[in-house]
Amino acid sequence: MLTSRPILDRMRRLATWRDPGEALIMDKFVIRGGNPLVGTVRISGAKNSALPAMAAALLTDEPVVLENIPEVRDIQTMRRLLVEMGAEVELEYDRAHKRTTIHCCGPIRPEAPYELVKTMRASTLVLGPLVARTGRARVSLPGGCAIGARPIDLHIKALEHLGASITQDHGYVEARAERLHGGHIVWDRITVTGTEELMMAAALAEGETVMENCAREPEVGDLAALLTTMGARIEGAGTATIRIHGVPRLTGARHHIIPDRISAGTFVVAGAMTGGDLTVAHCDPVHLGALLQKLAEAGVVVQVAGDSVRVTGDGHLLAADVNTEEYPGFPTDMQAQFMALATQADGSSVITENIFENRFMHALEMVRMGANIKIEGRRAVVRGKTPLSGAAVQASDLRASASLVLAALVADGETIIDRVYHIDRGYEHIEEKLRSVGAQVMRIGEMLPRRAALA
Ligand code: EPU
Repeated sequence: MLTSRPILDRMRRLATWRDPGEALIMDKFVIRGGNPLVGTVRISGAKNSALPAMAAALLTDEPVVLENIPEVRDIQTMRRLLVEMGAEVELEYDRAHKRTTIHCCGPIRPEAPYELVKTMRASTLVLGPLVARTGRARVSLPGGCAIGARPIDLHIKALEHLGASITQDHGYVEARAERLHGGHIVWDRITVTGTEELMMAAALAEGETVMENCAREPEVGDLAALLTTMGARIEGAGTATIRIHGVPRLTGARHHIIPDRISAGTFVVAGAMTGGDLTVAHCDPVHLGALLQKLAEAGVVVQVAGDSVRVTGDGHLLAADVNTEEYPGFPTDMQAQFMALATQADGSSVITENIFENRFMHALEMVRMGANIKIEGRRAVVRGKTPLSGAAVQASDLRASASLVLAALVADGETIIDRVYHIDRGYEHIEEKLRSVGAQVMRIGEMLPRRAALA
């Protein structure tokens, strides 16, 4: 039986994760709109690829080296989680390298505590690798978040299918298995991290696993590429059916994380909205297919050359309807940013969110800036073009924050965006990148007194 450590002890450890001398900072962005973005921005590695790749390092006792790791807060959270479990994790960010080396060679404490899972739901990605490698895992249930309920019931059901016995108590899910065995899983609905988690678990299971109705996101393919380098036998990643032949052990590996398609998409939309001439470099334009098609419909001139997308425009945009779908459809993670663009397009755009049930929080903030948006259930009707004016607004989640930055870039006057810690979770130095192409963005921090030390 896994015993959870006393709460105070855990809180003390969490407190020491802060760098010494670090104050609690509630950063805000101040943005003065009106400048077209001109120049080149370089896109980082994909956060949503790097997170499962880091979790995959739990599957082996040899070092896993991951290159092109984005310099964002969620990566720090995953590092903390892995260190907490007993892994050695080096994270190097310099001009030449952005990489992490993870070595899980010592004893593993197979527990993901609530304090970390509540700040980053992707922490639950360790459930599959932990039970596959150590035979047990205790992971906090994530609970709801700003964009929806986001349960992990399908992950749990699928792990049971591979022979894990699962119990839930005190807000934690506990999985046990001597050794997982292969199975046939048909996902009730497409889930990205569910597909990733089960692919990792099945890689070390005995026998063959076939998964149908899998997520086809590029991040799933990237994880499969890493696992294959580690010695896993996987076929079909990137299609709806993935076949995994379990192997007894996996080895270390070196792997380069794919570019972040959502960061790239966000900058492409920024270029289009501000009527600039922006080149988004070091991205994979193939991963941006649905977005680029929508932008063409909206009258944006986009040129693709190798690993760059150049977007030019005079700021004249046309309305376009969007339906979010699983990849290769239009990504839910670009819905908020596209809504910002739609406020500046002539005509009515209907934006339908099909993946998450509550992902329109940004619309209410945009309305405060002057946008005309009506929400009817899963649909938002955006009537453009409306002039936006700078206001104090609040970010509610990662992509919502990005959309408010975009709105602010075309607004009259200054916008102050509060709670930009959301944006720091997934966009690497966004204000510096924006400044380098002509935006007026400043980060301001409100210094709060340090918390009293825990006795
Ligand atoms: N769902 C269930 N049960 C489950 C799993 C999912 O009902 O067990 C539902 C979800 O509630 C949702 C839908 O299925 O309605 C799809 O969710 P999915 O599991 O695909 O989402 P996720 O894996 O939790 C990842 C990304 C999200 C991105 C979604 C959809 C990572 C770490 N996160 O989340 O990224 O929005 O896929 O593409 O890969 C972001 O980066 O801002 C972000 C939220």
